Amino acid sequence: MKAVHLLVAIFVLSSSLVSAYDPSPLQDFCVATNETDGVFVNGKFCKDAKLVKAEDFLRHVEAGNTSNPLGAQVSQVFVDQLGGLNTLGISLARIDFAAKGLNPPHTHPRATEILFVVEGSLYVGFVSSNQDGNRLFTKVLKKGDVFVFPIGLIHFQLNVGYGNAVAIAGLSSQNPGTITVANALFKANPPISTQLLTKAFQVDKSVIDYLQKQFWSDNN
Ligand SMILES: *[C@@H]1O[C@H](CO)[C@@H](O)[C@H](O)[C@H]1NC(C)=O
Ligand SMILES: *[C@@H]1O[C@H](CO)[C@@H](O)[C@H](O)[C@H]1NC(C)=O
Repeated sequence: MKAVHLLVAIFVLSSSLVSAYDPSPLQDFCVATNETDGVFVNGKFCKDAKLVKAEDFLRHVEAGNTSNPLGAQVSQVFVDQLGGLNTLGISLARIDFAAKGLNPPHTHPRATEILFVVEGSLYVGFVSSNQDGNRLFTKVLKKGDVFVFPIGLIHFQLNVGYGNAVAIAGLSSQNPGTITVANALFKANPPISTQLLTKAFQVDKSVIDYLQKQFWSDNN
């Protein structure tokens, strides 16, 4: 009987270890240094608690300017904009859309996103990983709807209503990061080799030349 209890205990312990989650990095990379004045720690250095004020936890967000080629503007409230978020594992973005405005396919490498539609109607979706068959999950959201984009997956939001739209996104990191797919591939600095992209996309070189010459607007 004791042996059975031990086995059960070992099973419970090992299964809880298996389901453990990697600690989330808070930036794209973190090269180890012995310098004590380095700034790229996993998080930010903390302000002296005695000097912390209510203002450290407050930020005002105006409507974003949607006069850009995408017709959408993301206003981030990440740790860089609101220092009080440091170490709290959470952040927010306000997304404003003009009619037909698009928040183009992008991913947040460090955060799941939960989106609430304040105004308007949005066609939203995400694509699962290769291992899951790159399935597309979409919905048309109306005012009051909430939708989730799982961590790391490529997702988008398109205004399909007649007027403007506004949405608020909650993100499960103080520094979610944003990788816009088109920008990362066609506006990389320095550029990714044309031959490589031609092979990757299986198109003529002229198509890649054309794509690399476009102005890839950054709406974040
Ligand atoms: C940091 O210091 C430790 C101990 O002196 C040393 O072993 C390590 O190689 C150093 N790391 C770097 C990146 O210099
Ligand atoms: C919005 O952006 C456009 C294009 O950059 C600019 O011309 C315009 O002045 C901006 N509007 C406001 C209210 O800032």
